[in-house]
Amino acid sequence: MPYKKFCLVCSGKQCESGKSEEIYKELKKLTMESSICQNVQIVRTGCFGLCSKGPIVKILPDETFYVNVDVKDAKAIINDHIIAGQPVERLMLKHDNPAKESRFYQKQIRIALRNCGIINPEDITEYIARDGYAALSMALFEMKPMDIIEELKKSGLRGRGGAGFPTWMKWKFTHDIKDQADEIFIICNADEGDPGAYMDRSILEGDPQSVLEAMALAGYACGSSMGYIYIRAEYPLAIERLYKAMDQAREYGLLGKNILGSGFDFDIEIRLGAGAFVCGEETALIASIEGERGMPRPRPPFPAVKGLWGKPTVINNVETYANIPKIILRGGDWFGQIGTEKSKGTKVFALTGKINNSGLVEVPMGTTLREIIYDIGGGIPNGKAFKAAQTGGPSGGVITAEHLDTPIDYETLGALGSMMGSGGMIVMDEDDCIVDVTKFYLDFSVDESCGKCAPCRIGTRKMHNILRKITMGKGTMDHIQQLRALAVPMQKASLCGLGQAAPNPILSTLKYFEDEYLAHIRDHRCPAGVCKALVTYTINPDICIGCTVCSRKCPNNCITGERKKPHVIDQDNCIKCGICHEGCKFGAVQIA
Ligand SMILES: Cc1cc2nc3c(=O)[nH]c(=O)nc-3n(C[C@H](O)[C@H](O)[C@H](O)COP(=O)(O)O)c2cc1C
Ligand code: SF4
Ligand code: SF4
Ligand code: FES
Repeated sequence: MPYKKFCLVCSGKQCESGKSEEIYKELKKLTMESSICQNVQIVRTGCFGLCSKGPIVKILPDETFYVNVDVKDAKAIINDHIIAGQPVERLMLKHDNPAKESRFYQKQIRIALRNCGIINPEDITEYIARDGYAALSMALFEMKPMDIIEELKKSGLRGRGGAGFPTWMKWKFTHDIKDQADEIFIICNADEGDPGAYMDRSILEGDPQSVLEAMALAGYACGSSMGYIYIRAEYPLAIERLYKAMDQAREYGLLGKNILGSGFDFDIEIRLGAGAFVCGEETALIASIEGERGMPRPRPPFPAVKGLWGKPTVINNVETYANIPKIILRGGDWFGQIGTEKSKGTKVFALTGKINNSGLVEVPMGTTLREIIYDIGGGIPNGKAFKAAQTGGPSGGVITAEHLDTPIDYETLGALGSMMGSGGMIVMDEDDCIVDVTKFYLDFSVDESCGKCAPCRIGTRKMHNILRKITMGKGTMDHIQQLRALAVPMQKASLCGLGQAAPNPILSTLKYFEDEYLAHIRDHRCPAGVCKALVTYTINPDICIGCTVCSRKCPNNCITGERKKPHVIDQDNCIKCGICHEGCKFGAVQIA
């Protein structure tokens, strides 16, 4: 008997940490206990995107979207909604914040994320029911390898892993030399090291088959019968689902020998990475699969010519692959109509930081920053002002309020001194200190530099040291010159993208926020009140009502004053922990 209602429960990482697995089990238990069990299917899905409002439960066919669901809400969902037909108003998305959240999905087009939050990622039949493997079967029986590459060319798809290199070109290089090589390899780069980015993990958790299908398509187009997925060991759920997906695909004759009886063989193995950022760089990743230490090597030769074990190798990112089955099925022209002239299709951004609706958003290339921040992201919490968004992770830079109407694509981000990177977008508000944020990225680059080449190994440390001095109030005007003087040679002389891009956050923040650097250096002031060494906490006697909260909370006992009389901070003993500022309900403790 067909099901009449479906209860989709997000089992993505964020919702899982909000106990979505328990919600799933409770919904299942309640359904089994009731007479409706024949009519209702409870399904675990991947991420819906609106992670900050998780755990999420969606009811079909009526499309009711429940947010912030708790285990104890399961009863109301089953009894009121499923049995009595009365949706649970208090859990509904629109109920919470009508103006903002319902717009979260309106400007999105989901191609790479098309199945996330819709299918059960652990059931291949659900993927097949959504046209899964139709592209592979069409390719094997109706298309020549070059036809596939032609469709990719028409689509304009560029790599989503950071560099934005045209995907069709990589495939063509390998296709053209396949007859000279005894083996060709296909690699999926699922290392995803950018702080704040988690779209690759979500695709693998929510729709693993799409990546397997795309890798098989790459194998057919480029003449390979073996693929590897390089994924960081910190992604256990994605790894578990990938293994299940591979087993099912083999069972259905969609991976392994003689796929669908076509005579084409293709199989995939998983390789786990230890989580070093530089192992996401393609030559370091290849070294790591080969069992060597994950260090980059000079290019050329590029992997397309000399890759894994010296054989031609196609290496693409997870999101890049996830787009491909749909492109083959609907045609490259369809994909090419979406986006801007040089940046086609959509891009998934991981929107995090000071934003109301944090989560994964997939928008057409060319969507403006304002649309992403305000329409989709619902703006900045607590009525604070938007200051900047860091795109491209440690390799990128900031885009500021004056660029809110800039269409976001590879070209415009590059022209602004930032980059697309893998799609991390961290939003900052007026309380964030630009110098401190830049120091954080440099800190990351220092830690992650593999140390093979001197410009990166020494340069990142020197720059970090200068930033540290500036945030401690020990900066000099020379430091600004030194930062610039270090940055440009590093960009040119470093061996790989890590060192080449490490100065980007500095150059971009110096370009747009030099004032803030100068405030730290010349005025010994941190305008955002973040850099502790430069902050002074004082109590405004006109506002202080002498409630004594601050003096009771101060861990160093340096606030004195009688009850109902203005209090005073002993500056010599203040350790600048900020507890008094956070604790004062009247705003009397001020930061200068
Ligand atoms: C330091 C560094 C880290 C990188 N990390 C990743 C990563 O985590 N995932 C990824 O797909 N690409 C990463 N890349 C880019 C890859 O080297 C490569 O360009 C990409 O996997 C190619 O796939 P695409 O063409 O589909 O983007 C990184 C590059 C550098 C320089
Ligand atoms: S640039 Fe940095 S990460 Fe890259 S090879 Fe040189 S030292 Fe290693
Ligand atoms: S900042 Fe901390 S140590 Fe200083 S006065 Fe306030 S509570 Fe006390
Ligand atoms: S993990 Fe559930 S919505 Fe993202």
